[in-house]
Amino acid sequence: MKKKFAVVGYGGMGSWHVNHALKSDVLELCGIYDIDNKKSELAMERGIKAYASLDELINDKEVELVTVAIPNDVHLDTVCRLLKGGKNVICEKPVALSSEEFDTMVKTAKENGRLFTVHQNRRWDVDYLAIQGICDSGEIGKPLRIESRIHGSRGIPSDWRGIKKFGGGMILDWGVHLIDQLMLVFKDEKIATINCEETHITNNEVDDGFYLTITFESGAVAFVEVGTYNFLPLPRFYMKSENGTALIQDWREKAKVAKCKYWHESDVLPVQTAAGLTKTMAPRDSITMDVYEKEIPKSDVHDFYRNVCNAIDGKENQLVTQAQVGLVLKIMEHCFKSHGQTIKFEY
Ligand SMILES: NC(=O)c1ccc[n+]([C@@H]2O[C@H](COP(=O)([O-])OP(=O)(O)OC[C@H]3O[C@@H](n4cnc5c(N)ncnc54)[C@H](O)[C@@H]3O)[C@@H](O)[C@H]2O)c1
Repeated sequence: MKKKFAVVGYGGMGSWHVNHALKSDVLELCGIYDIDNKKSELAMERGIKAYASLDELINDKEVELVTVAIPNDVHLDTVCRLLKGGKNVICEKPVALSSEEFDTMVKTAKENGRLFTVHQNRRWDVDYLAIQGICDSGEIGKPLRIESRIHGSRGIPSDWRGIKKFGGGMILDWGVHLIDQLMLVFKDEKIATINCEETHITNNEVDDGFYLTITFESGAVAFVEVGTYNFLPLPRFYMKSENGTALIQDWREKAKVAKCKYWHESDVLPVQTAAGLTKTMAPRDSITMDVYEKEIPKSDVHDFYRNVCNAIDGKENQLVTQAQVGLVLKIMEHCFKSHGQTIKFEY
């Protein structure tokens, strides 16, 4: 049986949840609540019930699960009111602006015996799943360094995302997804240090991009870069592993893998450069290296909702756990403290 569901916030992401809930095989939409009357009117024009207040939504006993899709600075209050009102809650990312806020949410969920999770929907992105798959298969050995990048060229959106007190900036907006993905790939590693340099090309108040290096105790490195002033993008993923390299050029492209078959080469053909010959930098041939493409993994983002519904019924473990979310939040807090310096990671 489908679970009865409501959405708080009927903006960009709230509308996405409404549309996907309507398409989903596990959720039935009861309605939305938005603080802005215009958004409520828009919902009603579309045949969607709009609650007049958050309390009205909370008092609707039919509603079992609520997604909170409102600006980042107001997640805490709404999430806690819903949990206290007996609702299971999915909160949009980034869940909170500090670990203290998040701890309060987790405590409230526990005290009220409700499920509380975060919409880390980019765990279903096929580019990330391809990298995860290559690591899991062990086909080119353990990753030594993974670089995860997204490059746009339009600055940050001109809404609350450009304002600090609303939880704006790219570390919180996109960093949260890319860090979450890499922390799943490096799930068995312990973080040693963090170094994060923010960029402020189009916005002084919040970061419009950043370069983040997470160094693990093993020596492996996760590098995350978000840019909003890159008119020519660098590849989405670049991974150096013990026995090869993987590269994904763009979101929906296949992963290209180069696997080293023989480290030693008998005869290296030098490359002619302007300044002379080089054997060191000459490309390898097919005798010592296999190059192949991976099929794009299958993915259905509705599996997030399916998992949440099954977890509410005790049939599955919650996929996006509070421990994972809390760790990503801690990493982002270190990013804001780093100011381009390498700092020790405090768990
Ligand atoms: N997971 C993703 O891929 C993804 C993508 C975009 C946004 N988000 C997240 O979703 C959240 C919302 O972002 P958005 O892009 O939809 O913003 P938005 O500005 O488009 O919409 C926010 C809506 O919330 C309403 N609102 C504000 N305060 C409210 C309150 N206290 N109670 C009820 N309604 C309130 C606003 O009137 C507005 O309609 C943010 O946390 C954002 O980071 C997630």
